[in-house]
Amino acid sequence: MPDNIAFSSSPEVDLKNFLGSRTFSKISVLSDTNTARHCYPVIKNALPPHKVITIQDGEEFKTLETCEFIWTKMTEHQLDRHSVLIIIGGGVLGDMGGFCAGTYKRGIDFILIPTTLLAQVDASIGGKLGIDFLNFKNHIGIFQNPVFTLLHVGFLKTLSNSQKRSGFAEVIKHALISDRETWNAIRKTKFEDLAWDEVVKHSVSFKQRVASEDPKERGLRKILNAGHTIGHAIEAYFLSCGKPILHGEAVAAGLITECFLAVKRKMLDEPVFHEIRDYIFQIFGKVEFDASEVERISNFTLQDKKNKDGKILSVLLEGVGTAKYDCEISLDEVRKAVDYYRSA
Ligand SMILES: NC(=O)c1ccc[n+]([C@@H]2O[C@H](COP(=O)([O-])OP(=O)(O)OC[C@H]3O[C@@H](n4cnc5c(N)ncnc54)[C@H](O)[C@@H]3O)[C@@H](O)[C@H]2O)c1
Ligand SMILES: [Zn+2]
Repeated sequence: MPDNIAFSSSPEVDLKNFLGSRTFSKISVLSDTNTARHCYPVIKNALPPHKVITIQDGEEFKTLETCEFIWTKMTEHQLDRHSVLIIIGGGVLGDMGGFCAGTYKRGIDFILIPTTLLAQVDASIGGKLGIDFLNFKNHIGIFQNPVFTLLHVGFLKTLSNSQKRSGFAEVIKHALISDRETWNAIRKTKFEDLAWDEVVKHSVSFKQRVASEDPKERGLRKILNAGHTIGHAIEAYFLSCGKPILHGEAVAAGLITECFLAVKRKMLDEPVFHEIRDYIFQIFGKVEFDASEVERISNFTLQDKKNKDGKILSVLLEGVGTAKYDCEISLDEVRKAVDYYRSA
């Protein structure tokens, strides 16, 4: 693990130590309405004089307009090229705040303090930053790493259960593509009894390893898209009907459907699939839709970002700990998998 990623039980102390080891000319903090209330007070006293920028929470604010607001505030705060932006919040804030810092005066340093499970195990690791544009997710962005990432599971206490579960889908994904030992440890422990520090540590070190081997997602990093081909289709379909579901709920359904598809191709053993399916259903329940919606959901895979030359590409599991990326799948296979999920 790089030494600029810290797992911390005393965020105030560790942040203070990091800041003491550097000379930043000015500090601004970026928070959203929720993290300003629940998380910023935890680190406030560690900071020398600084100003706070607070934006509205939610994906709908991950826009160029909000960036203009943030850049304006950074300018008003007179941040120069030796300043630092401390971003305390979920994945929306990390992606957008990092993008604002990475482009302000051609790039200033930023510190990430992720406060949702999703941001801790996924969004804060790997250097992808950006915003949504013209209804396309993460359409405009850059790759840049923070100078420091402070991971403190204590922040998860104020997170809603649904948000926690949503981030947990990425934990399940990481366990399934990394190793059997972690997968067993997770599924054999009750959700309420999970040791979050251990869970986050494993996910972070796994994602960090994969992302550092293939930072620009030319090959290996693609395995992190497991569950995300059909998952994104389900998420996009429900969004298009005005009944949005959480990303993690869609990914959980995506993992089941893509594993079903892997079984049909004789890549994955049926008992392993049943283990995965039963555990995910137990944690997430089922995203409900009827037979008449299967076609429309499946068609969304044709628009997946990962597709190449009109081919639908996905990550398929060959077993727990072994995933294959760039597997071409047919629309018919997707339909069958989505229909299986509906009736399971
Ligand atoms: N860069 C990457 O590699 C990467 C990877 C995965 C996801 N993402 C991005 O992450 C975003 C989703 O992140 P998210 O799920 O964290 O969403 P989010 O940032 O919108 O946070 C979810 C909600 O929780 C609130 N919140 C945050 N921390 C809290 C806390 N400790 N207590 C109480 N409430 C809190 C937020 O205000 C918000 O309302 C998406 O935009 C997605 O594109 C990026
Ligand atoms: Zn995801």
